[in-house]
Amino acid sequence: MKNVVILGATGLVGEEVLKILEQRNFPVKELFLFASERSEGKSVIYKTDEVEIVSEYEELIQKADIVFGCLDAPFAREIVPKFRGHAVVIDNSNAFRMSADVPLVVPEVNPEKIKEHTGIIANPNCSTIQMVVPLYPLHQAAGIKRIIVSTYQSVSGMGRDAVDELQYEIECLGLGQTIAKEEASALLHPIGGNIIPQIGEFEGSGYTSEEMKMVNETRKIFSDDTIAVTATCVRIPVFVGHSEVVSVELRKPMSAAQACTLMKDAPGVTLLEDPQAYPMPAQVKGTDAVFVGRVRQDAAFENGLAMWLVADNLRKGAALNAVQIAELLV
Ligand SMILES: NC(=O)c1ccc[n+]([C@@H]2O[C@H](COP(=O)([O-])OP(=O)(O)OC[C@H]3O[C@@H](n4cnc5c(N)ncnc54)[C@H](OP(=O)(O)O)[C@@H]3O)[C@@H](O)[C@H]2O)c1
Repeated sequence: MKNVVILGATGLVGEEVLKILEQRNFPVKELFLFASERSEGKSVIYKTDEVEIVSEYEELIQKADIVFGCLDAPFAREIVPKFRGHAVVIDNSNAFRMSADVPLVVPEVNPEKIKEHTGIIANPNCSTIQMVVPLYPLHQAAGIKRIIVSTYQSVSGMGRDAVDELQYEIECLGLGQTIAKEEASALLHPIGGNIIPQIGEFEGSGYTSEEMKMVNETRKIFSDDTIAVTATCVRIPVFVGHSEVVSVELRKPMSAAQACTLMKDAPGVTLLEDPQAYPMPAQVKGTDAVFVGRVRQDAAFENGLAMWLVADNLRKGAALNAVQIAELLV
C-alpha cells in the first residue's frame, strides 16, 4: 500500500487520475490532494472517504510514496523536484520529458525504462502516446523510417478553461451571437465553429512546440533518433478525444492485412478491421484503448501504411498512462 499525492487534483487530468485509481483499485494507503488556493478547503469523495484539498505541499513531501504531477509546466518545474529523493513522481507536464535522467514511458512500449528513474518519470504528450502505442508493433516488425501525422485535438487537451470556453462559445453560437477574439483567453482564437492550426508556441523552424513534442518524444520513446517525423497539430471544437491521420513509411514491405494482424494483438490497441469502419471521439470518450481504423496501403510512398487513430486524451493520453506506470512501480 502506498501514500499517494495528486498535485493539481482539481484539474481535468488530476480528476481523471483519481477516478482511475479507484476504478483499477490501486493500493492507496493514504491519499493527499493538492491544488491552488482557489480550491483550498474543497473536498472530494474517494471510495467512501472525504478527502480535503490542500494548497500547501511542503508537509506532503515527507509523507508521499507516489506522486501524480498534474500541474502546468511552470508549477511542475517549481514543485516536482522538491519530492525527488522522497517519492517517485509521475509527471504529466512537459517540464522534464526530454531530460536525460528522466525516463519517458508508455507501458505498452518501453516499460523497462522505468528502472532507470531517479525520482521522476515523465508521461509523454497525449498525441504522442496515442500514436506510439499502435505503431510500436509495426516498428518492431519492419522498422519505421518516416511518420507524417496530422492531429485533430480536442479542447480538453488544453485544460478546464478551454473546455469552459468551448461550452460558452457553443451557447453564443446557438443564440446567433458572434464571439470576439478577446473572449478566447484559454485558446488563441474562438474555437466554436472554427479550427485552429496552432497548438503551442511557434518555434524558429515554423513548427509549433506541440508538433516538436511529437517529433522528439517519439524518438525518445522508440530509442531511435533516425526516425523522421513531421507533424501538424490542429485544435478542433470537440470536448474530449484526440484524432490523428498517420502515414508511416517502413524499412521493409508490409501489407495492410499484416499490419492489422500485428495491431490486433498489440496491448492497448482496439482495431476496427473493416476498412470502411472508423472510430470517432464521441465514441471513445471514457474508454482506455487507442482505437485504430481505416488501415490501408499508403499510395504516396513505398512500404507505406495510412491509418486513423482516436483515443481519450484524458485517459490513455494522460491519467491512465500515469496510473499504469504507477502499477508497474508497485
Ligand atoms: N488535458 C490533457 O489532455 C493532458 C494530456 C497530457 C498532459 N497534460 C498535462 O497535464 C497537466 C494538467 O493538465 P490539465 O488539463 O489537468 O489542466 P487543468 O484542468 O487546467 O488543471 C490544472 C491544475 O493545476 C492547478 N493549479 C493551477 N494553478 C496552480 C497554482 N498556482 N498552484 C497550485 N496548483 C495550481 C489547478 O488547481 P485549481 O483548480 O485550484 O485552479 C488544477 O488542479 C498539464 O501540464 C498538461 O499539459 C494534459
